[in-house]
Amino acid sequence: SSGTVTVIGSINMDLVTEAEQFPNKGETLLGKSFSTIPGGKGANQAVASSKLGANVNLIGCVGNDAFAKTLNHHFETQGINTNYIEEAPGEPTGVASITIAENDNHIIVVPGANHAVTPQLVEKYEPIIAESETILLQFEIPIESVEKAVELANKHGVRVILNPAPVQPISISVMASVDYITPNEHELAVLLDDEEKKAFYEQNREKFVITHGSKGVEYFEHGQSHLVPGFSVDVVDTTGAGDSFNGALAVALTRGDSLAEGCLFGNAVGALSVSKLGAQSGMPTKEEVEEFIQTRNV
Ligand code: RIB
Ligand code: NA
Repeated sequence: SSGTVTVIGSINMDLVTEAEQFPNKGETLLGKSFSTIPGGKGANQAVASSKLGANVNLIGCVGNDAFAKTLNHHFETQGINTNYIEEAPGEPTGVASITIAENDNHIIVVPGANHAVTPQLVEKYEPIIAESETILLQFEIPIESVEKAVELANKHGVRVILNPAPVQPISISVMASVDYITPNEHELAVLLDDEEKKAFYEQNREKFVITHGSKGVEYFEHGQSHLVPGFSVDVVDTTGAGDSFNGALAVALTRGDSLAEGCLFGNAVGALSVSKLGAQSGMPTKEEVEEFIQTRNV
């Protein structure tokens, strides 16, 4: 239905500091740069999808503050439907304090208004979920709200992609109710925290699209596991790499690509995004991705 991707998830302002190295406990360092860049896993995935040409709704909450105004305006310029972004009374907009150094990052997220994405709020948007082709979910909003979204998507036969980040264990029934789960290796280990879940995984391998960083992405089809190798690029900032991949996968599946094609497209989008600073500021357009894939000859 309609080719729309609806993201239900977090919205943050990322406060990004670049430095030569990470400080030790109690140490003060001089940094190289500071930027405020739109972030949050939900919003990142929404922006990725929109830049890649999808029709995108973002359901989430911000505070009543300056960051919220900047973010709302930014989402509009990115072509996202912002009608379902609500203001959470008395809560500040979510922020992520990010330090980039030594080719790596440290991130502390303070969710603020993202706590206000309750199951009730999700329920209110049932008609929007029902009209969507794909629902994209992460774990930066309350887990009950993720579960509610899965339940409503199931009720209306809508595809669900669940990116289990930041990871926490979930029930087998939630895993069984989504079309694809996209953990990295660490997240997968946390999801499979007992024998029953490990057995579920073995019996439902085709649901799991596993990201292996720059090595690529593993999917399972016709009883076999396939690795789609990643593209090597000069890494500037890996923040939001997983979000870029998920946004791209959602777009690909929504337009009818195969899972293999979706993983290749997602790898390309992820690679382009890590070659630039920032989560949303680094996300490529559809044209940039197509050109990149062509020059890489795959
Ligand atoms: O996945 C990256 C995101 O995680 C950042 O944009 C930050 O906001 C944190 O939520
Ligand atoms: Na980036």
